[in-house]
Amino acid sequence: MKKIGMLTSGGDCQGLNAALRGVGKTLYNHYGQEVQIYGIRDGYRGLIEGNYHLMSPQDFSGILTRGGTILGTSREPFKKIRMADENSVDKVASMKLNYNKLQLDCLVVLGGNGTHKTANLLRTEGLNIVSLPKTIDNDIWGTDVTFGFSSAVGIATQVVDAIHTTATSHQRIFIIEIMGHKVGWMTLYAGIGGGADIILIPEIPYDIDIIASVLEKRNTEGKMFSIIAAAEGAISKQEAAMPKKQLKSARAEMKHPSVAYLIADQLSQRINQEIRACVPGHFQRGGSPDAADKILTTRLGTAAAELIIKEQYGYMVGVRNNKMVPVALQEVAGRLKDVPPDSDIVREAKLFGISFGDE
Ligand code: F6P
Repeated sequence: MKKIGMLTSGGDCQGLNAALRGVGKTLYNHYGQEVQIYGIRDGYRGLIEGNYHLMSPQDFSGILTRGGTILGTSREPFKKIRMADENSVDKVASMKLNYNKLQLDCLVVLGGNGTHKTANLLRTEGLNIVSLPKTIDNDIWGTDVTFGFSSAVGIATQVVDAIHTTATSHQRIFIIEIMGHKVGWMTLYAGIGGGADIILIPEIPYDIDIIASVLEKRNTEGKMFSIIAAAEGAISKQEAAMPKKQLKSARAEMKHPSVAYLIADQLSQRINQEIRACVPGHFQRGGSPDAADKILTTRLGTAAAELIIKEQYGYMVGVRNNKMVPVALQEVAGRLKDVPPDSDIVREAKLFGISFGDE
């Protein structure tokens, strides 16, 4: 009998259930009655607390298009994983204990960057792990794309697109803040896809005076509205020059609720035009996966099950050139995939006339 545990960890995204389904259906298809799958509740928290249940094939039916995660999720910060919790529980020891109690052959982990650090730690502690790259941010190293990204970009693109009509009617400047944590993938894609005039991403620090001059130039050309797609992690050139700690505390002390409001304030001191900030927030993570994510998660889930069948543990399934490939967890953990400022897509966007507020 094969015994497999599954958990979803970190911020949710579209396609989590579809990925679970991909793993589950492939395992049942291969092993029939000879596999038991345990659903672990609320991410690593469930493994720490022993909160799990035996799943059945029916649990994996009808969930391809369902948003969120049927297993629940939580954030268990990696930097605190070695610290005892408020009940003096040693989290790593508890996770090992429950893994061994269940006699698992493998733990399947669906998560983003923080999740992968813990997954790699558990690997070094002797647990068999197979993981899948989940996040709307698309910032996991070792894979061309993460699941959730396409669906979230679709929503963010719709926002950028839809704002055009109201921006035009009122002749306003709109700053749309797009999720993505420390990287600009979502903003870059939604900005291009939604027709933004200016795209601000953390990888290309902006100069507020350059942004103001781009906006003024548009006005002189008779374009009386402008759309700025700003990543939630966008930073100015001055901020980029600060040591990381100083930047962190500057942002923590910021009087504005978020970066879109900060930029709106900075621009209002330079430009005599109405400015509005728009923050779609978690809306971008909600709802069903799109077609691309449904296909991707089914393929990723199947590939994860294949690794389990071959007893190849210690890997994340990544996508490279449209192929599902195993990537060693130690290579993935602790590395960020950000937008290369000299990438083709950035170069093309600039050539097309989109400003990144840097030159
Ligand atoms: O990692 C996904 C993400 O949505 C980021 O884009 C965002 O910075 C963060 O999670 C928000 O976290 P939370 O859901 O904890 O507010």
